[in-house]
Amino acid sequence: MSDQLIFEPSETAIANTLTTKEQYEALYERSVSDPDGFWREQAARLDWIKPFTKVKNTSFAYPDVSIKWFEDGELNVAANCIDRHLETRGDQIAIIWEPDDPKADSRSITYRELHEEVSRFANVLKSLGAKKGDRVTIYLPMIPEAAYAMLACARIGAVHSVVFAGFSPDALSGRINDCDSNIVVTADEGRRGGKVVPLKKNVDAALKDCAGVEKVLLVRNTGGDVDVSEGRDVWWHEASQQASTDCPPEAMNAEDPLFILYTSGSTGKPKGVLHTTGGYLLWASLTHERVFDYKDGEVYWCTADVGWVTGHSYIVYGPLANGATTVMFEGVPNWPDASRHWQVIERHKIAVYYTAPTAIRALMGAGVDWTQKNDLSSLRLLGTVGEPINPEAWMWFYRNIGKENCEIVDTWWQTETGGHMITPLPGAIAAKPGSATKPFFGVQPVVLSPEGQEQTDTEAQGVLCIKDSWPGQMRTVYGDHARFVSTYFETYKGYYFSGDGCRRDEDGYYWITGRVDDVLNISGHRLGTAEIESALVAHPKVSEAAVVGYPHDVKGQGIYCYVTLMSGETESEELRAELRNWVRKEIGPIASPDMIQWAPGLPKTRSGKIMRRILRKVAENDFGSLGDTSTLADPGVVDDLIEHRQNR
Ligand code: WTA
Repeated sequence: MSDQLIFEPSETAIANTLTTKEQYEALYERSVSDPDGFWREQAARLDWIKPFTKVKNTSFAYPDVSIKWFEDGELNVAANCIDRHLETRGDQIAIIWEPDDPKADSRSITYRELHEEVSRFANVLKSLGAKKGDRVTIYLPMIPEAAYAMLACARIGAVHSVVFAGFSPDALSGRINDCDSNIVVTADEGRRGGKVVPLKKNVDAALKDCAGVEKVLLVRNTGGDVDVSEGRDVWWHEASQQASTDCPPEAMNAEDPLFILYTSGSTGKPKGVLHTTGGYLLWASLTHERVFDYKDGEVYWCTADVGWVTGHSYIVYGPLANGATTVMFEGVPNWPDASRHWQVIERHKIAVYYTAPTAIRALMGAGVDWTQKNDLSSLRLLGTVGEPINPEAWMWFYRNIGKENCEIVDTWWQTETGGHMITPLPGAIAAKPGSATKPFFGVQPVVLSPEGQEQTDTEAQGVLCIKDSWPGQMRTVYGDHARFVSTYFETYKGYYFSGDGCRRDEDGYYWITGRVDDVLNISGHRLGTAEIESALVAHPKVSEAAVVGYPHDVKGQGIYCYVTLMSGETESEELRAELRNWVRKEIGPIASPDMIQWAPGLPKTRSGKIMRRILRKVAENDFGSLGDTSTLADPGVVDDLIEHRQNR
């Protein structure tokens, strides 16, 4: 079995680690037996404007869930990520920007330059009317201005909501309206894999439905032609010319909101996950240092997009709080060819490379030759996030990229958790390919039976919950605390419910088995089946739709749609293509259906509930074990579904 495969930390890793095995064990023990003392000490890694006196004030008791950390302290996130480094590392590079096109020049921004740009950006936002507490939507490609915009919001106490630049105008307007943003920051166009993305055009379309937006701050990126709306749209390159580089950071309470980030759940529209100032920054910074074993002066690269939580915590906030050099890459792994990432590693002498299993599998598919054209000897540590990594991909990564010299950290966490939760610490915890291993400081995972019984044996299988709060935890769903409580604390009272299934092996290692709810994980991106279904039924020819996931070699999961057409409509390949494009347009290309099956009827119980279990089995091409179908209103639909299955 794969859990027999163990990789002990190398001697080099042990000799150089910030956290030895003994230290990990002692610190972990202290973090859960004396959280107040432990976190009081750890919080000293941040600069506080006003020191806190209280550390932890949290309750998971349903329905009065409340989470507060360092609640009477004050600090500013941008000052922690920039200003406090100026004296010691003003001329050190903070951000290396690597463009989509390998022939174009990369850019290096020192901490001093970052300070100037962010201060200017903050002053421009202020001049557009942004105030402490206002929500600013950021819809930008992977360019340094995305980091400037986030940090500028943090500097003045505005709350940012970054929307991934691959989302459609509809998805964008929904998110702008949900949090009542008055300002949107965008660019003329983005570049990705040699293609341009019409960001400003998308914003113009979205804003037809957003009455609350007063100003659009527009970054000139490609120089492409865009419509500029007089009085509403302001060019950053013009406004910044007059803007002062002096902008004192706002003193923020530790529990003031820092950002909202929308993520998919099992029901309804995406929810605005809200993170606050003190606990989040502490979590991002401490995990970045310990999990990547980050050493001063190293070049660190997280390949995520700033539109996802991984980009927030591990491109921007964690690394910059630690005075690191962080890489921002505009492009994709396989353009112009499958060696693009390895070129970037060679060019910038990257020591830590943090990516997603789906990217690894795609590059694995391109063939090992592509990995042999570049010098990868600068690498020290590899990391993965987003979905379980299959042991084959782990081994490929270890051999061909790490050359059997690099530790690998498989980090399990979620938008909701703010940062790493279950992960090896290199040099302290042996890796088992496919396992996220052990909990980080302060994290108390428990495995519950589906009925909610805590499994006390070391070896256990069930749903993954967390027993007590940690500083990086989300505080609420923006504007809907009841939804926060019901999503995460209602099913299993007294615990935070992650939505993931897991197994704990005989060594106490955690193996995440994937979502137990109706959330899909497509190439490491979270999508709710409900979102895709509602996009499909919005099409005039569709009467009903049900969406499930199925195993996909590269993407981890693929999107399988069962569609019932309005009576009188005919099934055709053209309509399939039309529906696929429709979903892309409604949500974004990441939601593009992989398979569409015409289903004259869906398997429903007599009370009308769709039996997803059956749909999943058919989509997985595993219809031999459908279980009891006698409770179906019309058992006959199952034969039709099997006969017309798409995944053979
Ligand atoms: C999955 C991304 C297994 C999991 C940071 C979780 C993982 C969801 C891993 C959160 C991992 C993330 N091993 N599964 N190392 N990392 N997941 O909110 O299902 O986009 O619940 O956060 O991704 O996705 P999210």
